[in-house]
Amino acid sequence: MLLLKNGSVLGFGDNFDILISDGKITKIQRNISFLGCKTFDCRDKIITPGLIDLHTHIRSFKENERETIESGIEAAISGGFTTICIMPNTDPPIDNPKILGKIKEKQSKIQVFPIGAIAKEMGQLRLSDIKGMKDSGIFAISDDGAELEDKSLLKDAMDIASELDLLVILHCEIPSEPKAIEKNISLCLDTKSRLHIAHISTKDGISLVKQAKKESQCITCEATPHHFTLSDVAFNVKPPIRTKEDKEAVIEGLCSGTIDIIVTDHAPHPMAFDKPGISGIEICLSLVLTELVNKGYLSLIDAIGKLAKNPSKIIGLQRETKEGCEAYLTIIDLKNEWVVKKEDFKSKGKNTPFEGWKLKGRPISVITPYFDLLF
Ligand code: DOR
Repeated sequence: MLLLKNGSVLGFGDNFDILISDGKITKIQRNISFLGCKTFDCRDKIITPGLIDLHTHIRSFKENERETIESGIEAAISGGFTTICIMPNTDPPIDNPKILGKIKEKQSKIQVFPIGAIAKEMGQLRLSDIKGMKDSGIFAISDDGAELEDKSLLKDAMDIASELDLLVILHCEIPSEPKAIEKNISLCLDTKSRLHIAHISTKDGISLVKQAKKESQCITCEATPHHFTLSDVAFNVKPPIRTKEDKEAVIEGLCSGTIDIIVTDHAPHPMAFDKPGISGIEICLSLVLTELVNKGYLSLIDAIGKLAKNPSKIIGLQRETKEGCEAYLTIIDLKNEWVVKKEDFKSKGKNTPFEGWKLKGRPISVITPYFDLLF
């Protein structure tokens, strides 16, 4: 049993207590007294539904210099996430039920949802065992990390996804983001599948999604902190950092609701590898608070919505701070001012363009049904 005392519970108000027992939220009230139970003082802290990252890369299932599930989970916890969805471009790729079984066997302090690869070995030639992976519990398939170029193979995959009610998460960069988005939207409408566009980053791409959403409720998209904070800087990441106009369009898309969720696209690499990506899961929430909430673009409730409620709807999870719900919670100190130092990252990836940034607002703890007060 755990009692959180005097927190500002998002959606309730200040000075609320939350009682958790058997991994569930059993009471949310002011002044709960419960003798003999572990308590945690949340005065001046915000308690939100546990954050969900729909786009996390880990690298390897064996211990080495690259990010493992274990190190990725520690990084996710330190970033305030209680749920991560792992992209399939791991080594070996997540392209068959057997590897899903191995991931499931790993004990985890947080919720981990693997995403299946569309193509076998993340290649270009054959589809993976999508049906087998669905039977093993995946909710989505993706080509992230190795965009599929063969349109008819992609259509076959989307037909299967539609039949099995799987989400299709697509990286849209070849031959340009708007062209790829246009092609993928038309495939989505043809196959009646659910399309989620990964890390949208261009003004024209966002306009296309805005239009398409008027015709179909089966299209969603995401943006990363680096695409709403940076412009015209050289950092090796895909999609690249774009222009100021694109960055402003991403912010506008988040505010208008065209962009449904914020994801980290946590892509850790050892520095020596010089591969594209940003190790972003530990600073995502602080970038959202500093750059979107504190600057007045998004309310706190809408910002957290993009990191918890909206992704939960896309995955089909319940993620609320409500009596009877599973206890997935994030505790945030909005006043905490800190400076990004990559050497402090729990992640094995120290690749970041945000070194030295001063941020305000930081997760201080997360709770899941399996573990409480994880840091
Ligand atoms: O920058 C990126 N890195 N973009 C991707 O789509 C893949 C990712 C990775 O796996 O490193």
